[in-house]
Amino acid sequence: MKFFIDTAEVSEIRAAHELGLVDGVTTNPSLIAKSGRDFKEVITEIVSIVDGPISAEVIALDAPGMVAEGRALAAINPKNIVVKVPMTPEGLKATRIFSAEGIKTNVTLVFSPLQALLAAKAGATYVSPFVGRLDDVGHDGMELVEQIRTIFDNYGFSTEIIVASVRSPLHILNAALVAADVCTIPYGVMLQLAKHPLTDVGIEKFLADWDKTKK
Ligand code: E4P
Repeated sequence: MKFFIDTAEVSEIRAAHELGLVDGVTTNPSLIAKSGRDFKEVITEIVSIVDGPISAEVIALDAPGMVAEGRALAAINPKNIVVKVPMTPEGLKATRIFSAEGIKTNVTLVFSPLQALLAAKAGATYVSPFVGRLDDVGHDGMELVEQIRTIFDNYGFSTEIIVASVRSPLHILNAALVAADVCTIPYGVMLQLAKHPLTDVGIEKFLADWDKTKK
């Protein structure tokens, strides 16, 4: 399973990249706003750090607007930029156009398996089911991922599933168990993955025992 980092904070991207944990990056308008920086400037900087898929989201709600924004974003780095498009009828139209032009897409805000099926039929490179936001309202986000996996496998769609809106290590464990292609992970959660109290206790004990050999 590939790990994308879900942030527009360049310092976090650099740190996770140094750990060797970054296969790609996802951003969204909220994350860009949180960074307090210019959209194009941040995306250009991210492109210079990570050689992998980098999702940048369009703001327009109509297909012609999405296509114009998406083409400009893709021009920053045609190999790595993935145009993130909302899961709407207009978004599907834009996805089909991008697909015909060889521009990669990430259809976002997916909350049902049928939305994912439509996105795959439109030629999406990725779909992003938002597991955390579903869990937040009492639904089982991971069940959605499982259903999308089954549908894509049933029909041989090459569209990859990005598990998004990740809140905890358990989401990542379950995403791996249901064979999601990608998990996009906030930096804090990525760090949590490496942590275990017994590892810390074990290191302490080894060092204490080692000290005894010097006495
Ligand atoms: C990534 O593509 C999504 O935009 C992101 O994971 C959403 O996460 P949130 O639900 O925590 O805002």
